[in-house]
Amino acid sequence: MWLMHALGLAGGVLPASGDLRFPDYVSDFAESEGCLPSILEETEPIYMSTELESILKEAANGSGIVVFSVFVKTGDRQEESAFAAQLKHWMCRARSVFGRDFLVFVDSERSRQRWQGEYGITPFFSQSWIEASFAGPAREEIRDSNYWRWAAMESILRAGYMALYVDTDILWLEDPRPLLVSLPGDADFFGSCDAYNGSSGSIRWVKDGSLDIEYLREESRQHDDESVCCQQGLVPVNAGVIFMRSSAGAISAVERFRKRIISGPCWGQAAMHWGLYEMCGSQLSCEILDPLVFASAEPLRTALRRDSRTALRRPSLIHLDIKGKQKATKHFERFFGTPQECRMDGRGSDSEL
Ligand SMILES: *[C@@H]1O[C@H](CO)[C@@H](O)[C@H](O)[C@H]1NC(C)=O
Ligand SMILES: *[C@@H]1O[C@H](CO)[C@@H](O)[C@H](O)[C@H]1NC(C)=O
Repeated sequence: MWLMHALGLAGGVLPASGDLRFPDYVSDFAESEGCLPSILEETEPIYMSTELESILKEAANGSGIVVFSVFVKTGDRQEESAFAAQLKHWMCRARSVFGRDFLVFVDSERSRQRWQGEYGITPFFSQSWIEASFAGPAREEIRDSNYWRWAAMESILRAGYMALYVDTDILWLEDPRPLLVSLPGDADFFGSCDAYNGSSGSIRWVKDGSLDIEYLREESRQHDDESVCCQQGLVPVNAGVIFMRSSAGAISAVERFRKRIISGPCWGQAAMHWGLYEMCGSQLSCEILDPLVFASAEPLRTALRRDSRTALRRPSLIHLDIKGKQKATKHFERFFGTPQECRMDGRGSDSEL
């Protein structure tokens, strides 16, 4: 782990190929746990609209990578207002890193106008894409942002682009696309992690470069009562930041995640996990993004408390996957600064959605 630390300090280099690869033996893990319901096989592939193709070309801007998010009205007012207060500021930061090369799938024309005008990034709204993507059994998922991310992901992969999905609660510091294109070319799926040591980058459930299944089992025992989708504790990958390559394996993995959501009772992130346990190592090559580059708020905050020099190693992004997002935003900006153009942006005032 010292080596990784040193490399990270030297220049934000990602772990060498195979360092954080999911091992083959998990492929029958879901079956051996014997707790998953069977899958409905009847979802349609997500349809590729020509309007989306031109938007993807613009958003990829020659990089081959589309960085995207989704923003849908979920009906959860509490969650929406936690985001609304900071959204304008986070989007200013996204713009300062990506210009307009940041795509957000939205669910209304009104929302499209706001994202384009007020936030200045590239929105995609299409009634025909929504109708096609949420047809049949997927109709129930129209307000589920988890399902939306996979529908959007599948569209982008099918169009031949690599895709970095991010939640909207991201504090952007650097453009990660140059790092992403240099990742090992034989992996299709890169998940992010929020259970790591923020100083060293070592992941709690990785042992000798593989999943520590015993550790995960122990974790899951402690969370046994929390989920109806096998054990919620068996959730090593955070679905808030995901990078995928456009391969046949990646596309069928996303289809699998969608089918698992539709079949119930797994919610989106757990649906993804069981898809990964079923596919990684056999039909899909899976890795973890370097958590020192794709950081999560809590481990980074802990590391900064221990030693403020941690800030010398700037991550590309900080996922604010914690409560108190406004406070966390201010906290991290004390260490990492605020772009000039975002200094006056929505600070202290609530920008309404
Ligand atoms: C596309 O990328 C170039 C740099 O590679 C940048 O100058 C330009 O602003 C980008 N275009 C948009 C629309 O952001
Ligand atoms: C995290 O890593 C640092 C540096 O390697 C180490 O000193 C510290 O003890 C680790 N923390 C935990 C909780 O393992």
